[in-house]
Amino acid sequence: MIISLYLIGLCTCAFYLHFVYHNWKYLKFSWQEKNGFWYPILPLVGTTYVSLFSGSLNVISLLQWIDKTKGFPFNLWYVDKYMYITRDAKEVKTIVNHPKCFNKALIYDKFKFIFEHSIFLVSDETWKKQRKHFVTGFKSNILKNNVYVYYNHSCQMIEDLKSVEMPEDIFRYFDRYAIQSFFLGYTGISEYLSLFEMEKVGDIILDIQNLLKSLVVMPFLSPKVWLANFPAGRKATKLLKESKEIMKYIIAQKEKVLKENQEYCENDKDLLELCLTCDTDDSDDDKIIQQLDFIASAVSDTTGNAFAFIFVLLGMHQEIQEKVYEEVMEVVGDKDIAHQDLPNLKYTEAAVCETLRLFPIVPLIGRACGEDIDLGAKIIPKGSSCLVSILHLQRDPQYWPDPLKFDPSRFLPENQSKINPSSFMAFSAGPRDCLGKAQALAMMKVTVANVVRYFKITSKHKTIEELTLESCLTMKTKESPDCRFSARKEL
Ligand code: HEM
Repeated sequence: MIISLYLIGLCTCAFYLHFVYHNWKYLKFSWQEKNGFWYPILPLVGTTYVSLFSGSLNVISLLQWIDKTKGFPFNLWYVDKYMYITRDAKEVKTIVNHPKCFNKALIYDKFKFIFEHSIFLVSDETWKKQRKHFVTGFKSNILKNNVYVYYNHSCQMIEDLKSVEMPEDIFRYFDRYAIQSFFLGYTGISEYLSLFEMEKVGDIILDIQNLLKSLVVMPFLSPKVWLANFPAGRKATKLLKESKEIMKYIIAQKEKVLKENQEYCENDKDLLELCLTCDTDDSDDDKIIQQLDFIASAVSDTTGNAFAFIFVLLGMHQEIQEKVYEEVMEVVGDKDIAHQDLPNLKYTEAAVCETLRLFPIVPLIGRACGEDIDLGAKIIPKGSSCLVSILHLQRDPQYWPDPLKFDPSRFLPENQSKINPSSFMAFSAGPRDCLGKAQALAMMKVTVANVVRYFKITSKHKTIEELTLESCLTMKTKESPDCRFSARKEL
């Protein structure tokens, strides 16, 4: 017994000596910040056990706990790796624009089993190459064509909403809508796929995110072990297998279509084709599937969740909904919504941006510091991870007076000079920002304008605080919120 205690004591001392020796510069830096410094750093978990104090194991609960109890910036140890969590606009600007800060933070390793080879997670030169490759899929002529697709698709949603007064789970409902938009607008093979196949892809993405949300705050649990041995992991393995089969079918269909249409324009590749041709040295199916999984998820999970939030907010704020309605009737009336109408839907766009301010669909981003990062008053040591709580940045009263008020007028052109540009990061910023920002905004404006034109939206929720949030990579509410659609006129 004494010998065992002696050995445990010796191992603990050796662990801490080794830890302090290798992490001295990070410990010194975190001492300056104090917040979170005094939590004991434990083997296997570091200080991530603080997420247990928040009552629920997911990223949002952890960030909300930090905000309520300790404040930002906060020091966190992810096992033995140091993480600096901030919500300061000036610091965020430096971090996301720094040329040695575009690789993803360590915390993203948890997603490597799904997205390792995708543009989202690749590093250094591979990322630069992939970014250059994908940029061609976001040119303005492609956006113009897609507005037509988004409009026609939103007309189908209107038909659908006539029969379902309130979708049971509005996040799932709009995620399915958004994944259909992905196939319609970005793949060129939607006619070869059944609605079931399209929705299945969306459902799988949503279900895997749900299963993954606790794993992110459990650094000691490797995804491999989780996937093989835990009930949630085994379910995720099964879903991944199903998704792989569908993606293989999609790839085969696309290859067939490309072979049949040899004369396609080299410059106008859609996103699916860009996924297929991304890595010219290596056409490994698994890599293509990971790329495709990420792109499908980047389109559907984000815009889908954003639709759910904006319709709930419009349902809660009738006077704002009426302003959107009046603008749509004035700009478009009963006509089809077209690309040239978009610049004139200013209030609608402001309502979309204000929704994304209050509910940034990606609430946290993280970058690895490839060299010492000078933030003015402090220098973050090379090798740290910098995490940005976009949720708290965008709800900070320093930048947003009365931050929990849903007030689209903040984003009207005449008020934009009052906004600190680095305090709105819903699409991130800097060289690794969201590639689909213009597409997402167009899709949302067209759909919101069309739906509000035909439906009066209501919700029983009274305040934003009523909506309990949770997140893995993307954020949604814990329970599906109340949101109803009733026809404004005989359709
Ligand atoms: C409301 C909708 C959307 C939101 C809020 C959103 C937000 C974001 C954010 C925050 C990032 C991460 C940047 C970082 O880590 O710093 C990102 C990355 C990305 N998004 Fe979006 N996104 C949306 C829709 C879309 C759409 C529709 C597409 C494609 C058509 C898209 C394509 C991408 C791609 C390709 C990346 C990876 C960029 C890179 O690593 O270089 N996103 N998005």
